[in-house]
Amino acid sequence: AIQVIALILVAYLIGSFTAGLWIGKWFFKKDIRDYGSRNLGATNSFRILGVKAGIIVMIIDVLKGTLATLIPVWLDVPVNPLLIGLFAVIGHIYPAYAKLRGGKAVATSAGILLGYSPTVFLIVLIAFAIVLLLTRYVSLSSMVAVTVGFIASIFFKDITLIVVMAILTAFILYRHRANITRIKNGTESKMVFKSKKKI
Ligand code: G3P
Repeated sequence: AIQVIALILVAYLIGSFTAGLWIGKWFFKKDIRDYGSRNLGATNSFRILGVKAGIIVMIIDVLKGTLATLIPVWLDVPVNPLLIGLFAVIGHIYPAYAKLRGGKAVATSAGILLGYSPTVFLIVLIAFAIVLLLTRYVSLSSMVAVTVGFIASIFFKDITLIVVMAILTAFILYRHRANITRIKNGTESKMVFKSKKKI
């Protein structure tokens, strides 16, 4: 039990390393939470810090989920790795070193799926890409993707996966409340594929 508690804590602290905040602060002297959508995530990093920084933030935020999921496997701790990964997502949303004002859970959730079930990750990624190409809303793509992932999980007959996907869907939809209002009002920003900083 002590091992599991230690893993939960480590996963939470890994998740708490919200890359957008630190890359913004260290390299751009900006807290991206004061700009754009004010979200501490990869999308807002693209928007405010540019493509290169955005990609780096996305990779780090994804991989911290993957890492948190793989550590219990590497250490051979008898616990479902997805449950440990979930704490990295919670760390990303409510980061210990960023006054609990973190991101919307998308990249880190993708990361834990990558670590636990590359098949579900791929399904989610394809859903995300299709909606993004059709609508250019990253937020909508994220919400549709996680919902598709939840529906897909039912077919995998893995109860932990189903429960965790339900929790991730709830978190992601909840964290996108402002985006949902903006989409309804037609004021949500769209991703611009060609130009540099606008999304
Ligand atoms: O990265 C989360 C994405 O789904 C939405 O981000 O900054 O457009 O609210 P943002």
